[in-house]
Amino acid sequence: MHALLEGKKGLILGVANANSLAWAIARGAHESGARLGITYQGERFERRVRKLVDGAGIDANLYACDATAPGEMKALFEDVERDMGTLDFILHAWAFAPKDALSDDFIETSWDDFAISQRVSAYSLVEVARGARGLLKEGASVVALSYLGSQRVVPGYNTMGVAKASLEAGMRYLARDLGPRGVRVNAVSPGPVNTLSARGVSGFSKMLENHEEVAPLKRNIEPEEVAGAAVFLFSDLASGITGEVLYVDAGYHIMGV
Ligand SMILES: NC(=O)c1ccc[n+]([C@@H]2O[C@H](COP(=O)([O-])OP(=O)(O)OC[C@H]3O[C@@H](n4cnc5c(N)ncnc54)[C@H](O)[C@@H]3O)[C@@H](O)[C@H]2O)c1
Repeated sequence: MHALLEGKKGLILGVANANSLAWAIARGAHESGARLGITYQGERFERRVRKLVDGAGIDANLYACDATAPGEMKALFEDVERDMGTLDFILHAWAFAPKDALSDDFIETSWDDFAISQRVSAYSLVEVARGARGLLKEGASVVALSYLGSQRVVPGYNTMGVAKASLEAGMRYLARDLGPRGVRVNAVSPGPVNTLSARGVSGFSKMLENHEEVAPLKRNIEPEEVAGAAVFLFSDLASGITGEVLYVDAGYHIMGV
């Protein structure tokens, strides 16, 4: 990576383990010169995330934050302000839908499953933007991770596809709200990558095979390629880009047949 983020401070939301896309992005941002704060979802993840961060020699502030836990988001931004002062970028890589909702036909989706997937995967971006707005510097960049299931029907992705559509629309509305402060909001839409969350989608290994067959580059993507796009969007090189969805999918989304 280049020193694109030298002197910048960023918050990474959504590292669960070494396979997390947020972890690839954290490493990319660190190698690009940024100082980081990193969140983990709760005690269950704390030890693993600490080990990862220490093992990589990254000197980051770690914070617990569960998107559904009352008061944790407020506490997060109070702690971040105390430790880091201001922020130049934020990565939102939180997503969740109950496993049952990722296998039946979409028509069977219950309100509870629909609601929790929207809350964690889409509405939390609004809460994060609101919680962080006082800390985001002029020129700051917020990036969320989306997926093509927001635009096209991907069997099995179901309620998560609807949550990603909501995330992308929310991203555009936030870009409009924060634009006058010089803050940009964008999404990166990666092709399928084998992670903890991805394995919850029924037929995921078939998705990887299909991607390799259909994508113009005839392959799947690497987490480091997602990190490259996120680091670019965090950086001043992307200063004119907001409200955009940047696909990192070896071109899969352009194909019709
Ligand atoms: N892996 C893929 O194929 C793929 C493709 C496109 C987009 N994405 C998106 O990338 C992002 C990261 O996913 P990933 O694939 O790296 O999997 P992952 O399981 O490593 O990351 C998902 C993260 O969401 C967090 N999370 C879930 N519920 C939460 C809650 N209530 N509060 C706080 N955090 C919570 C988990 O702790 C985890 O860190 C997600 O938005 C996902 O939809 C993934």
